[in-house]
Amino acid sequence: TPNVRPLVAGNWKMNGTREALDQIKAIAEGVNRPLSEKVDTLICPPATLLYVATALAEDSPLEIGGQDCHQNVSGAHTGDISAEMIADVFGSYVIVGHSERRTDYAETDHLVRAKAEAAHAAGLIAIICIGETAEQRQAGQTLDVLKRQLSGSVPHEAKAANTVIAYEPVWAIGTGVTPTTEDVKVAHAFMREELVRHLGEEGKTMRILYGGSVKPNNAKELMAVDNVDGALIGGASLKATDFLAIYGVY
Ligand code: G3P
Repeated sequence: TPNVRPLVAGNWKMNGTREALDQIKAIAEGVNRPLSEKVDTLICPPATLLYVATALAEDSPLEIGGQDCHQNVSGAHTGDISAEMIADVFGSYVIVGHSERRTDYAETDHLVRAKAEAAHAAGLIAIICIGETAEQRQAGQTLDVLKRQLSGSVPHEAKAANTVIAYEPVWAIGTGVTPTTEDVKVAHAFMREELVRHLGEEGKTMRILYGGSVKPNNAKELMAVDNVDGALIGGASLKATDFLAIYGVY
């Protein structure tokens, strides 16, 4: 998308103990180069590593974020963390509505929107994930699903500066299978239209990431598709060399 800084983001999911901090360090060092003036980078480690990770990335353009947040600021919610807590340890982004949360915890569009609003209230950039399942795709419902998830999960006041959309076809996550570039093009063009319809000008420059089996060997092709403004990387973000190779396609 013209005039949009791409974002290369890693979602570590429930992976990473203290020894994985070496990878954060290597990524923080690896992105400290002129390319970082054009491309943003982010790693979302598990919550246990957040505070140390932000310290390690302090002198680097690498940003650190959370993988989920609660919709409330504080209170009796055992096991949850708030957007404020992520901001407090210097995180700057949070992923919400990942398909694994939608599936494992039955998170609805309505809840995902509330989480994104909580992220905004805490000054975080929300990465809102959407995407169809294999069944929905086979039934020809992909664009309907994206339309419904966008209109249900994206706050009405969302801005390009505080919101990122991540398109992750559920069947492409962790499978090594990706949609064709033509399919990605159609989906991203559709999401762009919907964002502009809902948000006007802001929708024109809101970043739309592709996620689902992004690897060093397919990143160049996927990132070159119109309206693909970066990647949300799972497995390949756990290894600094892979993450940096994907970043390096820009
Ligand atoms: O959030 C990123 C993720 O769902 C994609 O995972 O392992 O297919 O890159 P992976």
